Amino acid sequence: MKTLGYYNGEYGPLEQMRVPMNDRVCFFGDGVYEATTVENHIPYALDEHLQRMERSAAKLEIPLPMELQALRETLLEMTAKLDSGSSQLYWQLTRGTAPRTHAFPKDARPNLWITLRPFSMRDPSLSYGLLSVPDTRYFHCDVKTLNLIPNVMAAERAARAGCEEAVFHRDGMVTEGSHSNMHILKNGVLQTAPLSNLILPGITRAQLLKLAREMGVPVLEKAFTLQEMFQADEAFFTSASAFCCRASTLDGKPIGGKDEALLSALRNAYLDKFRKETSAVNPYLEKRP
Ligand code: PDD
Repeated sequence: MKTLGYYNGEYGPLEQMRVPMNDRVCFFGDGVYEATTVENHIPYALDEHLQRMERSAAKLEIPLPMELQALRETLLEMTAKLDSGSSQLYWQLTRGTAPRTHAFPKDARPNLWITLRPFSMRDPSLSYGLLSVPDTRYFHCDVKTLNLIPNVMAAERAARAGCEEAVFHRDGMVTEGSHSNMHILKNGVLQTAPLSNLILPGITRAQLLKLAREMGVPVLEKAFTLQEMFQADEAFFTSASAFCCRASTLDGKPIGGKDEALLSALRNAYLDKFRKETSAVNPYLEKRP
């Protein structure tokens, strides 16, 4: 298959899949999601993404439709069905299917959606423009819910300004990107906002901080300002699909470019880990017809 859509056990080409209008995601965005990059038919950091989904679902009191291990197997099985070994794996869990009422419908059973699309990695040597946007989101940004309107609006504003990503800030304090975590390098220190209800605990962020510590790079988990971003040696953003992207402008003004060696070392360490861990064999590949 070139693309794949899955809904509660049924699957087929993504473009041909149909879902019930009464899935609560249509009315309320009532669900949680995850996304990761697949290489060699192996979804990267799958366990970390599954654990975060379990935490997000627990916060919304959405029960998992199956054990985490069974969900893992389903995702691996679906990943093996795609022709391309390089893809974007996305899955979401919605509260259930019922006529529209705000409170949880009784006896709702969660719906599992999975999508897979071919994907090619960005050239890691590229650098990108950023646009600062006031962070008008609510105070549950640590939960990976489907309520993404402020993120969508910010991403569109950035795109219209010819930028790759928006930098959310609350009164000048940077929180994160519209779909990434933001970081700076200053005097050899990797600085990033601390985990709180104001940011998503990014899997890429966590892995990068761990790698930095192993490499002896000091890490400071303290929020920085837009001003500090302008004065940083490097500024960059991370996500499961973008990996580790260097920023070259913020609001049209040049930033960073003063510690490319350290940024490259961190990015290469991340890419090495990615390549190593995606060199395993997906057991479901052998069962393909
Ligand atoms: N977004 N912050 C936000 C608001 C995000 O949406 C994302 C990821 C991240 C980075 O998290 P991670 O490293 O676990 O991907 C931070 C995904 C890629 C998306 O919405 O498509």
